[in-house]
Amino acid sequence: MRLVILGGGGFRVPLVYRALLADREPSRVTELVLYDLDAARLTAIARVLQDLASNILDAPSIMVTTDLDEALRDTDFVFSAIRVGGLDGRAVDERVAADAGVLGQETVGAGGIAYGLRTVPVAVEIAQKVAVLAPEAWVINFTNPAGMVTEAMSSFLGNRVIGICDSPVGLGRRVARALGVDPGEAWLDYAGLNHLGWLNGFRVEGVDLLPRLISDSARLESFEEGKLFGAEWLGALGAIPNEYLHYYYFTREAVAAGASRGEFLLHQQEKFYSDPSLESWERTRLEREATYMAETRDDERDTCDLDGGGYEQVALALMHAIAHDRQTTLILNVPNGSTLSAVDSTAIIEVPSLVNANGARPVSVSQLPEHGVGLVTTLKTVERLTIEAAVSGSRSHALKAFALHPLIDSVTVARHILDAHPYLSGDFRAR
Ligand code: G6P
Ligand code: MN
Repeated sequence: MRLVILGGGGFRVPLVYRALLADREPSRVTELVLYDLDAARLTAIARVLQDLASNILDAPSIMVTTDLDEALRDTDFVFSAIRVGGLDGRAVDERVAADAGVLGQETVGAGGIAYGLRTVPVAVEIAQKVAVLAPEAWVINFTNPAGMVTEAMSSFLGNRVIGICDSPVGLGRRVARALGVDPGEAWLDYAGLNHLGWLNGFRVEGVDLLPRLISDSARLESFEEGKLFGAEWLGALGAIPNEYLHYYYFTREAVAAGASRGEFLLHQQEKFYSDPSLESWERTRLEREATYMAETRDDERDTCDLDGGGYEQVALALMHAIAHDRQTTLILNVPNGSTLSAVDSTAIIEVPSLVNANGARPVSVSQLPEHGVGLVTTLKTVERLTIEAAVSGSRSHALKAFALHPLIDSVTVARHILDAHPYLSGDFRAR
């Protein structure tokens, strides 16, 4: 089986390869193709992969290429994990927003819109190529903003593109641990958009254990989301929000914390890529994970939150379920159909989905919390305006996307960002 990773020079690629090496399935990936625009980054990552595979006889072969057509032709699976504009672009997205006095974050608020405007045209081009060169392939989209990018690609690939994120499964794991139950035994009643969802129930053998957890402050504040939102607020909500909801519920604090994540990662990774080795990759990765979302909290993140079950596990579980027609339920970014009444049927939503050889289909879940309906429909409108602007180059659509985002509090600020952002297309600037 052949897998191609777009963005193959990316820092997290060794995590995927490590998961592939641990895979003992009969029809596992035998050929891995890494595609990237940047040949030096490919060389750096290929070196780390070779070191990871050094004592393993049947390790998947590694091919690197900067030719997208060659990478895609006849592949079975595509992991799309690109970062258009690189970490430099992320740092600029975050900085421009923060300098304008609004949230400076990779995927949420102005940063996410700018990132989407840059990424959607590239993602669409990839989708069009896959449709021609590998019409049977499944695309697993990691590229952020993942919901928006998956929706843009789905116009060309239908249900052959599926978006993934590690945050809902991470939340489920932490809740399971706090309750002392096996995460594999639990049914997560989770719904929303990517980075904008709520855990509305946590069922084990048909019993919802979430009310019990929410009424136990000590237990609740023993894990990340409990600390982040506080027991009182979670009690009021009656649900556990995805950690990214922190930016909506605690906007003022998040804005005050400033925007330095992109800049930090940029410098951190520059060091790694200038002198790559397995050892420095491992060190850099641990440091990255320990500082994840550091601006949202005073202490260090729990070490048990850091490892295992991240993107690579979700992606591999999804790939196996499709390749082996093995029924599995995973929280994925898929077309709504009639799952959530708040959004239309083609909207990409993030919900538990049943996966088999035919792809992924959402299963029925609780509806959004009442106060979340407005937020989700507004954000879906913002996503679609961003896609429309990215594809057409329309300034007015881009302006609406920024100005209608709930975390951008004035049309003036939206206009300023559009004009000041050095990485946005000139089409969007005032003439
Ligand atoms: C989580 C999210 C990703 C996001 C990443 C940022 O894994 O699900 O969508 O890109 O965090 O982490 P970073 O270390 O890059 O700040
Ligand atoms: Mn994510």
